[in-house]
Parts: sequence; structure tokens; C-alpha cells
Amino acid sequence: MSSSQDRASLPKAKDLAHHLSEESRARRPSPLKTAFKYAIDPKIVSLGGGLPLPSYFPFESISATAPAAPFTDYNDVEKSAQAPTVELTIDRYNRNQEPGVIPLATALQYGHSAGSPPLLKWINEHTEKVHHPLYSDWDTLLTVGNTQGWDAILRTFTTRGDTILAEEYTFSSAMEAAHAQGVVSVPVKVDLEGILPDALDEQLNNWTGPKPKLLYTIPTGQNPTGGTISNERRKAVYDVLSKHDIIIVEDEPYYFLQMDPYAPGASKEAPPAPPTLAEDPEKHDKFLSKLIFSYLSLDIDGRVLRLDSLSKVLAPGTRLGWIVAQEKFVERLVRLNEVSVQTVAGLSQAVVYSLLSNWGQDGYLDWLVELRKEYTHRRNVCIDALHEYFIQPTEYAPNGLKEFVEWKDPSAGMFFWLKLNIRKHPKFAELGSKKLEEHIYNKAIEHGVLFIPGSWFLADQHPVESDAVPSDDAEVSIFFRGTFATVPHDKLIAGVKLFAETIASEFFLN
Ligand SMILES: Cc1ncc(COP(=O)(O)O)c(C=O)c1O
Repeated sequence: MSSSQDRASLPKAKDLAHHLSEESRARRPSPLKTAFKYAIDPKIVSLGGGLPLPSYFPFESISATAPAAPFTDYNDVEKSAQAPTVELTIDRYNRNQEPGVIPLATALQYGHSAGSPPLLKWINEHTEKVHHPLYSDWDTLLTVGNTQGWDAILRTFTTRGDTILAEEYTFSSAMEAAHAQGVVSVPVKVDLEGILPDALDEQLNNWTGPKPKLLYTIPTGQNPTGGTISNERRKAVYDVLSKHDIIIVEDEPYYFLQMDPYAPGASKEAPPAPPTLAEDPEKHDKFLSKLIFSYLSLDIDGRVLRLDSLSKVLAPGTRLGWIVAQEKFVERLVRLNEVSVQTVAGLSQAVVYSLLSNWGQDGYLDWLVELRKEYTHRRNVCIDALHEYFIQPTEYAPNGLKEFVEWKDPSAGMFFWLKLNIRKHPKFAELGSKKLEEHIYNKAIEHGVLFIPGSWFLADQHPVESDAVPSDDAEVSIFFRGTFATVPHDKLIAGVKLFAETIASEFFLN
């Protein structure tokens, strides 16, 4: 879809207002906010709003130096040092009428609770380009990152005592937010790729009591498992949730960290620089066509709320993300913004908008192509190291460690997820899986490496312990999460080796 004409011709979202929580329905527009449009109208003398005079804001101008689009090989350390830069200057009143600038007098003033209109316009264009929503009445509002966006969604759709669904292992902070609001999370069965649609359908068919309010899912580069659910499964999961009339919240900070497939030994070569747009005019179309479908892009009902964030593609400290959803939901979320965060800090909006409008949609896509190249390489370094230290014979494990350790090569995100078959651990019968997990975690730290125990990410933090003793041949697994995003390549390789040595010394107890 390419024009607003096309958008207008799409059907409208279903009326799903029955999903809104009592708290959300009760929200009325903040009366002061309804007068805001008059307070900023230059034709009206406003003695009404509590807006301070912009000439008292102690910022004349701010400037930032940023890499200049287009990008080829920006993240190559040597080349990035010499890469061309652009000076972004944001003046108080933007008297020179520079394009792509939110003047400080506006950015630092109380603003629109959904976010600054030019930034939202940019985000809407980006959303059209990437997701092509299938219904016409969708909208966006800014969030203070996905953390706040999720908290706002919980308040808008759930009430104390409600249940929500989440992947069996999931982002623990998201579950903490739910639990603190008295919302119970119920795990959905997954494999190393993600949610199993048939199991989900069966779970909902057999559900007793009020149905869950929503599914919270991290479909791409899942935290903690690194799994990315395929297009076919996404479609099947969507159909199941549509059949059971359940809202879907896709938390997608890692969406653009999708990678080329892993090829053994690939990390030995530096990744080739992507072509410029002049060299390959289809560069961006190819990039976009490789991306997996978002739930938003499959959503014909208007039951998906998509959480997008700049945290993993620009910087977490921007505290800038957004929600895309049907207009009626966005309107309710704006009402909540009005009386909570109001909106993202004006300084952040102004700087990010200057950067994005300077880069343009094409420059931003170029940036994302760069990240794809970089993350593909990091993932390759990590998986090559896993092969070298866990699969190949080493001095500490002459037959390798593959009988104890498994993983699925991640195709997105920042994480890898190691599955340990602890049935083979000499202390399994004595300690059991929970204590062994803690024991291995501590041993790894003693060896000088940090991996996070999988049980910390259980959606259900109070699983009912089964008294049944697992049969002798039953597999008993625990998991550890690692990341390949944070440290230089040499440290990443050293960390994998240290963990392999820990595992060897544990399983062979030498
Ligand atoms: C799944 C998931 N959601 C949200 C966040 C936090 O995102 P933000 O910085 O946008 O609040 C993270 C970060 O670790 C995450 O892994």
C-alpha cells in the first residue's frame, strides 16, 4: 500500500471495545487538555493554559553530531571514525525555518499527549512502509519505551484478578508489571521457535472461567530464548486468538535485528559492506521483503497492539517508543498518557526527530540494513564459538559436550539460549533441577562468566511442582540465556569458552 487513498479504501477495524478495562472506560478527557488546542493557537490570546513563557526556557539552542546517511559499513570501527557526520541544530524558535526541526519553544513546552505531530507523522510513514496495516483506522502514540507502553496496555485492558497469556519463558520485567497489578500470567507452550498454535488452541478450548484478556508475546528474537516464530505459525497463532476473541500485544524491540541465516565458519570473514542505494536501487525493498511478518501486518480485526521501540536500534536512553493499534484503543491510551507520563520528554523527541528527518525514511532503512549486517556477524561469531567449544573435541572435553548442550541458532535479536540436559549431571539425583541451575550459575560466575538462569524468565513464577519422579530416560532440561550484543568479539568468544569449561567441569566433575 503506498498512498493515503489506498488507506482510506481499507475496511475499518472491528469494534473490540468490550476488551477495555473498567479503569480505561472510566477515563474522561482531561478538561485542561481539551483546551490545549486553543492555548497554542496563535489567533487566540491565551490566558487559560498554565504554559510557561518559552523565552524563560534556559536553552537557546541544542546541537548534536550524528553520522550522515546514507550508510555503508558505518559500524566498521575504523571506517566509522572517518564516516561523514551531520550537525543537527535545534534553535529556540527555528527562525531560519530549517526543515525537520521541532523548535525548542515547542519541544520544551507542554505538548500533545500522543506525541509531537511531526514525529508521529514520520512514524506513521514508517509504519506504512514496513507493516502495511490491513485496516484503515489505525493510529500511533508515543511511549516512554516498550516498558511504559506495556504498563499502559495492562492498565487499559486488565483488572486485578484477570489472566493473561505469555510464552512459557518471557521477559521477566513484563511479567513483574502484570503481577504487581494483580494480573495472573499463564504460560503458553512453546518450542525453541516459539508458540505452538495447536497447543494454544487446545489450551483455550479447555479453558475454564473467564478467558484470558490478552496474549503478551515477543515474536522476533524473543527475550530470553532468541526464538523467532515463522510466518506460518504467526498466521496460525493469529487465527487461534481471533477465533477465541483475544487481544494480541506484540512487544517487538528486536524486530529489526533480523539476520541472514547462519553459515558455519562465516565469522572468519568480515561481513561485506552492503551496496549503496545507487548501486542497488532495490536495496531497501529487498531488506523489507526479508523481514518476517509482524502480527500487525496480519491483523484484519484490529486486535493487535504493536509495541515498537528505538531502544535496540538507536539508543535505550532516548526513552522513545510507540504503540500502533486501532484508533479506539489509541484514544484510550492517550487519555492515560494525559494523566500519567503526558508524553516522551520534549528534548528526546526534538533530537530524535531531527535525526530521523535528516536521515529520511531511506536513511533510516540504510541504518537498519547496517544493523542487520552487524548483528548477523555478531551472531556468527557467537555460534561459531559455541561450535568450537561445545561441539568440537577440546582438551577439557575430548568428545565435545553435545550430549549435554543444545541450542537453536538465533535468527534475530540479541540472545542465545542454551538447553542443558541435566539428567546426565552427576549430582542430578541429589540436587534436582532447580538447585542444579543455581549451582551452575554460581560456578560460571566463579569461572568469570555471567549467564542468566532460564527459570528467572518463567511466565509462571510459581509452577506447581510435580511429585512424579521423571522416568530414567525422560529428558530433564534447564536453560541459560546469553547475549552476543554487549561485548567486543574477543570477549564474546572468551565468555563462551569459559561457560563451556564450566559445563565440562560440572558434567565430568573434574
Ligand atoms: C521484550 C522486551 N520488551 C521491552 C524491553 C524494554 O524496552 P524499552 O527500552 O523500549 O522500554 C526489553 C528490553 O530489554 C525487552 O527485551
